[in-house]
Amino acid sequence: MDARGARGENWTIVTKTSSFTAPKGVPDYLPPGSAEFVAVRDGLIHAARLAGYGHVELPVFEQTALFARGVGESTDVVSKEMWTFADRNGESFTLRPEGTAGVMRAVIQHGLDKSGQLPVKLCYAGPFFRYERPQAGRYRQLQQVGIEAIGIDDPALDAEVIAIADAGFRALGLDGFRLEITSLGDETCRPQYRELLQEFLRALPLDEETQRRAEINPLRVLDDKRPEVRALTANAPLMIDHLSESAKAHFDEVLAHLDALGVAYVVNPRMVRGLDYYTKTTFEFVHDQLGAQSGIGGGGRYDGLMAELGGQPLSGIGFGIGVDRTVLALAAEGKSAADPARCQVYGVALGDEAKAKLVAVAGELRAAGISVDLAYGGRGMKGAMKGADRSGARYTLVLGDRDLAENTIGVKEMASGEQRSVPLDAVVTVLSEELGR
Ligand code: HAM
Repeated sequence: MDARGARGENWTIVTKTSSFTAPKGVPDYLPPGSAEFVAVRDGLIHAARLAGYGHVELPVFEQTALFARGVGESTDVVSKEMWTFADRNGESFTLRPEGTAGVMRAVIQHGLDKSGQLPVKLCYAGPFFRYERPQAGRYRQLQQVGIEAIGIDDPALDAEVIAIADAGFRALGLDGFRLEITSLGDETCRPQYRELLQEFLRALPLDEETQRRAEINPLRVLDDKRPEVRALTANAPLMIDHLSESAKAHFDEVLAHLDALGVAYVVNPRMVRGLDYYTKTTFEFVHDQLGAQSGIGGGGRYDGLMAELGGQPLSGIGFGIGVDRTVLALAAEGKSAADPARCQVYGVALGDEAKAKLVAVAGELRAAGISVDLAYGGRGMKGAMKGADRSGARYTLVLGDRDLAENTIGVKEMASGEQRSVPLDAVVTVLSEELGR
């Protein structure tokens, strides 16, 4: 079937398929594995909460120009990877490829930077969209947890942002990663360095495409993975050796704070980030067991972005952590951040009257903060006990006619197999105590 877009373009809607699949490069997270996803996302958000970052929930699509201006027209993200569409009035919108530009838009629009309380500290989580070539760990819908601290240029804040990511990863049990960090300089030293680097690159026998890249974004050439280009650029001038005095002092102070915080790092002066807004401190968390898609998180300072987007000239720093890749990294380390149990208590009733009572008990237990699932559909004792095993519950409640007559309920501890009888009106209190609620 063909349909027409808002601008009259033709779209093909495939209807001949007998079954549907998720779009290419877009992962589904399903139980039980999705528990890992939730544990990672919530663990990272918790690390940000501990430093006072407030939650923002922002649109997943914005005006296309916001990303073109904010992220940079010459980046792959903007020039090749955006999901862009026209609305019915012909206005161009784009599914957000990253979070920082949207956060800045919201801060400016709602005047959060004028509330008198700086830095504005914000945290977000959700899907982002990049039309990349899908492969393991590289998706077209990716999930990030991000934070942004806006309005104060203090090296201690850079260290805080980095330490939050580091602590978030470690709290999940992850340790096979390293933090790479560098400084991209500021407006006083970057333009001169750029010229110096371009002069160096122009003298090299680089292919045409690479020469072109050197003119548009010379730093990207330093990130070229081809051995012959690596060899040619081995002695290229590096930003870190050409920092202005104040940018150098800033960077040294960030590193001193990281030392004091006990956050290990490696200075990588050749690090290149895929977004144009970075200034001064930039960093990446790299995991070695993930193959080509090794970046589990990255970020940095973006001191010119707010002014670029029409706000006051305020500084900012933040990170975006890839939740999908962090889940993969945990699996690669053979670790789990999630509680594998689907619920703490599983209920099995024998007979209609017992079932009615057990449904009510389940409600009371949930009201007390205990997670409960029940055997539904009258599967018989054997099937119901299989369900109890599969649920991962610590306790199974068994309620039959005889228990009802005696006003008691059977409580089976699944690990030991021990079963005892507890007065029905005490079961919520007993389980609350034992489960530490
Ligand atoms: P980014 O480095 O483009 O930074 O993305 C952050 C993280 O998102 C990456 O380290 C990676 O883990 C994950 N990621 C990116 N693309 C994909 C993909 N196609 N599939 C799976 N995971 C992916 C930013 O987005 C900046 N907004 C971060 C930031 C915030 N800088 C300052 N504040």
